[in-house]
Amino acid sequence: MATTAIILAAGQGTRMKSRHTKIVHNMLNLPLICWSVRAMRNAGAQRIIVVVGHQADEVKKALVQDGANDVIFAEQKEQKGTAHAVRCALDACEINNSERIIIGYGDTPLMRPQTIAALLDKLENKQAACALLTMHLDDATGYGRIIFDVNNHIQAIVEHKDCTDQQREALHECNSGIYAFRAEDLKKYITEISCDNAQQEYYLTDMVALLNKAQKTVLACHTDDSDELLGVNSRIQLAQATRIMQKRINEQHMAQGITMLDPESVWIGPDVTIEMDCEILPQTMLWGNTHIQEGSVIGPNTRLTNTQVGKNCIVDETVAQEALLENDVCCGPRAYLRPGAHLLDGSKAGTHVEIKNSTIGCGSKVPHLSYIGDTTMGNNVNIGAGSITCNYDGMHKNKTIIGDNVFVGSDTMMVAPVCIEDGALIGAGSTITQDVPANALALERSEQKIVEGYAQTRRERMQKKEQTSC
Ligand code: UD1
Ligand code: CA
Repeated sequence: MATTAIILAAGQGTRMKSRHTKIVHNMLNLPLICWSVRAMRNAGAQRIIVVVGHQADEVKKALVQDGANDVIFAEQKEQKGTAHAVRCALDACEINNSERIIIGYGDTPLMRPQTIAALLDKLENKQAACALLTMHLDDATGYGRIIFDVNNHIQAIVEHKDCTDQQREALHECNSGIYAFRAEDLKKYITEISCDNAQQEYYLTDMVALLNKAQKTVLACHTDDSDELLGVNSRIQLAQATRIMQKRINEQHMAQGITMLDPESVWIGPDVTIEMDCEILPQTMLWGNTHIQEGSVIGPNTRLTNTQVGKNCIVDETVAQEALLENDVCCGPRAYLRPGAHLLDGSKAGTHVEIKNSTIGCGSKVPHLSYIGDTTMGNNVNIGAGSITCNYDGMHKNKTIIGDNVFVGSDTMMVAPVCIEDGALIGAGSTITQDVPANALALERSEQKIVEGYAQTRRERMQKKEQTSC
């Protein structure tokens, strides 16, 4: 059956103390709103409507960046309550009466797709008009309280502010804010909701009493994991939610055969995949579509974004973005791999090495203090310490081509465009501005002078000067 999700997210989120709207803040490198949209989609929603207030552009941008181009936006200019927000969503597109509608919030990123799917199932199996996710809270301050009838169906929800003291004391089963409705009933009864309450808002929770009045059934779907419904209203809650999701994700990876020395200092985004027998060391962040193949060791102090790592690699203290490492590659400590860095089997990017838009051939090594940019490097090349490709002339990026089995001496500047052919040798300290033929030696350096005894004479002269000045 067709399912539409409505995500309410028009609230300002002033407690974040931010120039940005609350739901674009990141949890594990993914904006909060994206977590909600993904959960709804994974629970089976084909269409998603997000109700936004201020800064809709920011929210759109975040979703498009996550590939959610088909989300429908409904603008709620003035926040007159959750029922009003839902009406804005219903006005934004045509929803068939036979559809199911699932309603949730944009600031509850821990919500599991399975939980939402279970809520939808409840609606299906029992022919109810509405199913509502509920939870027990010892401290239920701020939450709507559930009132059950004799059949254990939900009779009404009373908002915290509208509760009597006795109700506040006695009622601990709470409204999570996640509902599944039949479209027909939602569309029909939502127009009857008034704003006659403590906050003078249109409460979506009033749907429950209205449906009861119409002899319809509202079912409770209880969840034991109230963490799932944690709303993010402040940076402190954002950190709490992040911790919970971090633990969930890391434990999944560990269960799949990944070792973590200290899981609390490893942060992994939801789309990262890691194969068996990898080890993730402390202070490591893995973001985006990063994929790591069997037997690789990542970290410590490493951040990989949209990076592919092959089998049995060692990626130590490395920052990489959109890089591609084949098998048995070794990086770091302190390597910086920028977009388009492609390290073939058995190659190495060592310490204080930066590589951008370059292929490093099989078994080739860039071990120390080098910058390699816009370069195609063959196999079994050795780049001496401190060597650099000068790829930028102030106007254009130029290419360096290095053949197989080339040996580049330390402190070599390769001024691009330049081509160093197979088997060539470059003497240390050279600035290479012309192509080097295969198997040739290129040496660019002024002649070394020797002045016999000079150092000693100078030392003596200086000592004498010091004595006379005292
Ligand atoms: C709501 C429920 C309450 C429930 C609680 C769970 C109502 C009346 N109350 O209370 O029973 O226990 O959630 O967290 O529904 N929003 C809009 N437009 C509006 C108002 C709100 O988009 O005009 C959005 C907010 O951005 C937020 C969500 O709806 O994401 C919840 O709104 P909020 O005002 O925080 O509701 P609560 O008082 O928490
Ligand atoms: Ca020189």
